[in-house]
Amino acid sequence: MNFTGAHILSISQFQRQDVDQIFSVADRMEPYALRKRVTRVLEGAILGNMFFEASTRTRVSFGSAFNLLGGEVRETAGFESSALVKGESLQDTARVLSGFSDVICMRHPQEGSVADFAAASRVPVMNGGDGANEHPTQALLDLYTIARELQAKGRKIDGLRIAMIGDLRHGRTVHSLSKLLSLYDNVQVTLVSPKELALPDSIVEEMRSAGVDVSISDELNNSIANVDIVYSTRIQEERFTSKEEADLYRGKFRLNQAIYTQYCEPNTVIMHPLPRDSRSDANELDSDLDNNPNLAIFRQTDNGLLVRMALFALVLDVVDKVDEYSHDVRWYNSRQN
Ligand code: NCD
Repeated sequence: MNFTGAHILSISQFQRQDVDQIFSVADRMEPYALRKRVTRVLEGAILGNMFFEASTRTRVSFGSAFNLLGGEVRETAGFESSALVKGESLQDTARVLSGFSDVICMRHPQEGSVADFAAASRVPVMNGGDGANEHPTQALLDLYTIARELQAKGRKIDGLRIAMIGDLRHGRTVHSLSKLLSLYDNVQVTLVSPKELALPDSIVEEMRSAGVDVSISDELNNSIANVDIVYSTRIQEERFTSKEEADLYRGKFRLNQAIYTQYCEPNTVIMHPLPRDSRSDANELDSDLDNNPNLAIFRQTDNGLLVRMALFALVLDVVDKVDEYSHDVRWYNSRQN
């Protein structure tokens, strides 16, 4: 695909070669993300970062990625502080904000809303999560992490075995990752959820017709026995009609070190899009895994910066200028020690 000026709305818009291109640009962003070099390539550019749903890492990751390329960030967070509470349409908001920004990242609780917004925007829009639909940049950073973790073992994404666990019905990261995995060969996916929270049939069908070997279970221990990656997710409480309904499913699939040692193959990689729900009635990834070197959750968040920097560089067409507009770091860099 031609990335220049493109919206990033859904995994469905990518072919495998596009993903390869994003990943190779992401690799080139590492010196900047690690503060070994500084680039000013996006000096003067503004990111409009609009988050109408709770977010910590995605919002700050988009903003930091843009800053690391030398651009500036303007944010609005929550409906209460935006004119949407005054009845303004998303389209009008898009018309206005695209006059202020060079690219817009947006999260919104309604499925399809970011695409509607993009249709009225004069600048590229990136989907930071539209309700229970998709979260394409998270899936890209998840797959980038998978590729790096496998590469360290001399393996490729083709032939991957992964268990995806939790609220697969509402989990937009799983929806996007499932679509992304469909671009690869000989992938085996085990879907582990309560029956009521199963991955939507349309996505299962899409994976199967792309040749993915999909199996479905509502039991954790045996499902994590023969996989390279365990991808755990949170019950998406905000998508349920009440907290009580979400409580019915919370804490059903808890992974801790004892279960990991008993059931997983050695060096199985543990991932989670985060936030992990660490409350005692959920605790889907126990903190006793924190010293397990195969826990990749913070490598995922670090990789997210690289992938989002790559997307900005591609969409704003500066990939080949990033190094040209760079210089040494002037401050003490604790990362290098
Ligand atoms: C996810 C999301 O918002 O969909 N978080 C994220 O962006 N990393 C997952 C979640 O909230 O459970």
